[in-house]
Amino acid sequence: MTTEEFDRDSWERRWAQALRDHADVVATRPPNPHLLTVAGDLRPGLALDAGCGHGAETLWLAAHGWRVTAVDFATTALDHGRSSAETIGTDVAERVDWVQGDLATWTPPPGRYDLVTCLYVHMAGAVEQTVRRLAAGVAPGGALLLVGHRPIDPTTGNATAAAGQVQVSVDTAVAALDPSDWEIVVAEDRPRAAAGSGVDAVVHARRRP
Ligand SMILES: C[S@@+](CC[C@H](N)C(=O)[O-])C[C@H]1O[C@@H](n2cnc3c(N)ncnc32)[C@H](O)[C@@H]1O
Repeated sequence: MTTEEFDRDSWERRWAQALRDHADVVATRPPNPHLLTVAGDLRPGLALDAGCGHGAETLWLAAHGWRVTAVDFATTALDHGRSSAETIGTDVAERVDWVQGDLATWTPPPGRYDLVTCLYVHMAGAVEQTVRRLAAGVAPGGALLLVGHRPIDPTTGNATAAAGQVQVSVDTAVAALDPSDWEIVVAEDRPRAAAGSGVDAVVHARRRP
């Protein structure tokens, strides 16, 4: 596999196919459990969902009172998320700003968000740099949640659905966060609930006030 296969056009094609073949699965996918754990303990504020896809987490956050900036480079996914938000209701739709942007360069306003989350996004060989850029968007006292799907399942040695992708790992994420600015709350690999479906690298950090 080449990096080429995870560029914007490839993700547009993946989303178009997923929505054509499995619209019901996409529509009913529950929000990410790591996100629920972190956000469930926070008072709603401003959130950034970087690489939001079709927006299951964005929609959950907005339904729970967060104002969300949802960034992805695939317009197919953003359009679906926007339309889902409108179906849920105007209060949810009005709380989300859907932004088309490439996370290789898109930079959040410094210190703006109470929560920055980035789940399962291919980071094209510049993981530490991307982590630092996203982390800079977290407000003092705010939370950062990064989750990467490990391309090889360490328990089985088998390739996962993320094979060929460069996603965040615990070591690279922690190395990118200056301990004088960040308290690491969680930094560990967690096997997914369905046996053999892979392992998530989970990093939850709090920006020191
Ligand atoms: C595996 S999906 C995950 C979507 C969502 N975060 C989730 O957990 O369901 C990866 C998403 O990242 C987006 N993506 C990948 N690389 C990106 C980049 N450089 N800039 C913006 N979005 C990107 C893709 O379009 C896709 O929607």
